[in-house]
Amino acid sequence: MILVLIGYMGSGKSLIGNTLAEKIGYDYLDLDAYIEEQEKKTIKDIFQDHGEIYFRKKETIYLKEVLANFENTVLALGGGTPCFAGNLEFIQQKSNATTVYLQTSLDELTQRLYAEKEKRPLIAHLESHEALKDFIRKHLFERSFYYSQSTHKVNTDQKHPEEISKEIQAALF
Ligand code: S3P
Repeated sequence: MILVLIGYMGSGKSLIGNTLAEKIGYDYLDLDAYIEEQEKKTIKDIFQDHGEIYFRKKETIYLKEVLANFENTVLALGGGTPCFAGNLEFIQQKSNATTVYLQTSLDELTQRLYAEKEKRPLIAHLESHEALKDFIRKHLFERSFYYSQSTHKVNTDQKHPEEISKEIQAALF
């Protein structure tokens, strides 16, 4: 089985994915880290050198590669992965994959992302807390169409990764 974690930037996919994988004895894989490893470049540099369209093409290729070659893995997607190139439909059609949406409030996302926006090319240019919040509000609204099609949904607000991980396990097993 591949447990696919979906959620906006800053929703905790990596932290929760690691915690969950350890608890259930699965491997953990971060799609962004996998892309960086394969391309030998950071996500930031991929965006800077080749642009977003190039990144999205690579993202789809590597997503398919991972889904074909990994088992017993918790896979954290990038925030945009399910929203492009039919990626979500592709995942949903796989009999050995299931999707979990980590839903986080606008306030919590803004707070977390403001502190770590530099490494995220889509938001690095947003100077003020208010500008970041306005961007996330609109972006999250657009992306929710995709996120909400996930098989399972867990709210992450003010919860510890251990607690979220338990909720995911209860929903899945
Ligand atoms: C993106 C999210 C990032 C990364 C890239 C684009 C997005 O991943 O894939 O910067 O479109 O939301 P995280 O969600 O892990 O930050």
